Amino acid sequence: MQSKLDEKLRRLENRHLKRQLRAVKRKNGEILIGQKKLINLASNDYLGLANDRRLIEASKIALEKWGVGSGASRLLAGNFPIHEELEEKISEFKQTEASLVFSSGYAANLGVLTALATPRDYIYLDELVHASLRDGARLSGANIRYFRHLDVNHLEKQLSENPSRGERFVVTDGVFSMDGDIAPLSDIVRVCEKYDATLIVDDAHGTGVIGPEGKGTVSYFKLEDRVPIQIGTLSKALGVQGGFVTGSKKLIEFLIQRARSFIYSTGLSPTLAAAAIEALKIAQKEEWRRHSISNYRRKLTTELKQKGYKILGHHEAPMLAVVVGEAEKAVNLAKQLEEHGVYAPAIRPPTVPLGTSRIRLAPIAVHSTEQIETVVESFPNQDEN
Ligand SMILES: Cc1ncc(COP(=O)(O)O)c(C=O)c1O
Repeated sequence: MQSKLDEKLRRLENRHLKRQLRAVKRKNGEILIGQKKLINLASNDYLGLANDRRLIEASKIALEKWGVGSGASRLLAGNFPIHEELEEKISEFKQTEASLVFSSGYAANLGVLTALATPRDYIYLDELVHASLRDGARLSGANIRYFRHLDVNHLEKQLSENPSRGERFVVTDGVFSMDGDIAPLSDIVRVCEKYDATLIVDDAHGTGVIGPEGKGTVSYFKLEDRVPIQIGTLSKALGVQGGFVTGSKKLIEFLIQRARSFIYSTGLSPTLAAAAIEALKIAQKEEWRRHSISNYRRKLTTELKQKGYKILGHHEAPMLAVVVGEAEKAVNLAKQLEEHGVYAPAIRPPTVPLGTSRIRLAPIAVHSTEQIETVVESFPNQDEN
């Protein structure tokens, strides 16, 4: 087996696709890799809350009160009052009836799709949805169809062609984090209602950042009453860890019976639940954090376009993609940025399609204007690259 693994790893290396883990320390927009301090543009801690004192204090109190781990599945002995408090706060935030917290966003996606869809059913996914949604769809055994990225006409064509036996589910990210796109939810909702398909929106990257008080993409489009299932994560803009599903009381009751990644997994640590409650409060109140991201995003887009780069991304999304093409080119550019003190790793296939390797830039609320200026300066003009 060892020689087979060697061969597989060598092949990845030859194609510039071999990934590497690097131990880091990270705080307030900076990252320490080895002895080198870099400006960190690779974090999903968009609001800058992961090191916030108030989250740390809330976790400490919960730690003393409840201990470190929850010790069991929530259906056995691992369901603490703080989990239920967090679920109530999520429902208030998302204006839904009920919510269920999972140990990660990945687990939430797997749990929802495998609980709801059966081999008789059809799942229609945007072709660029997150890997966890693809995995959930596959594991459910349902019939899978991919529609072209953001293309509602293509989705409608598929819905109108496929037989109506079984249930149909339409699945999309709210914000596509590798492209900075936002799903055209108003049109998707209209088509789902026309063909009686249940819409599932994974708003991992919209929660905390998009829409009024950061309530997310569904709220941005004012569709709270028309999207029956929303998924999210506590691990990105909220700066903590864990995932959630939110919707009707019946939906949550059913997931408690059937979502295997919820049932057969230890409940979220109570310290993380406490931090997430605090993060939700801050995210809603501190609008300046969203303004800051938006200003930095605009500056990066304008100035990198002037340097000749192709930039992808919706102006409301927290991230932007600087597309350079081949994996090798992206890796070299990332190295160059690092030499100038900027950490923004290359994003390569299979995370993004072949030939669209890129540098993903995610400015966060607590970066300084000077740091963002350094990022712009560290990109060479496109023709010199
Ligand atoms: C769209 C989307 N959904 C789900 C996840 C998984 O969330 P978590 O990191 O909380 O497992 C991610 C994380 O990368 C994501 O980007």
